Amino acid sequence: MTETKPSLADDLRRVLIDEETIARRVSELADEINEKYKDIKEPLILVGVLKGSFIFMADLSRRLTIPHIVDFIAISSYGSKGDKRGEVRLLMDTRENLAGHHVLIIEDILDSGATLNYLINAFKARGTKSVKTAVFLDKPARHVIPVEIAYRGFEIPDVWVVGYGLDYKERHRTLPYIAEMIPEV
Ligand code: IMP
Ligand code: MG
Repeated sequence: MTETKPSLADDLRRVLIDEETIARRVSELADEINEKYKDIKEPLILVGVLKGSFIFMADLSRRLTIPHIVDFIAISSYGSKGDKRGEVRLLMDTRENLAGHHVLIIEDILDSGATLNYLINAFKARGTKSVKTAVFLDKPARHVIPVEIAYRGFEIPDVWVVGYGLDYKERHRTLPYIAEMIPEV
């Protein structure tokens, strides 16, 4: 096959993770999750953090062979793109009652850790059997609050990335790959 390079939008610098690499990694994560939860009695509840996780959620959940329920929450995190951080607020709760269930939080990216730290604590307080996290991307250089990640797609450097659910001001969210943005001047 001839090599076809996707033509990049002019605010993007380069493709960091291509479609094929993403698909392979998501399959590996699904295999690990299928193995880990194979003996649970109640279905696993996947809780996707809107909006960024919706594509990762769709791909991951379709590779799960264990019984599972898909659910979502929406949060707002003040200053997650600026300097003032850490304040997280629940905008839309899950439809499911999480009590008595194993819960897996599905996140697009771990940055400061404020979002996941808030959610893990909130869900643990609801009488869940366990609360773990599956994070598509991890930016270790940005961590402020330590968060335990059970399933991690890729580690990336401290750059703003878009695609595969992640956006910049709602742009580039549905690109099939992860691309690095050219920083704004
Ligand atoms: P945290 O609470 O600081 O860990 O924030 C994580 C959230 O910030 C993610 O769920 C994303 O919505 C957003 N975020 C952080 N880095 C990026 C990025 O490089 N691209 C797109 N969104 C990002
Ligand atoms: Mg997010």
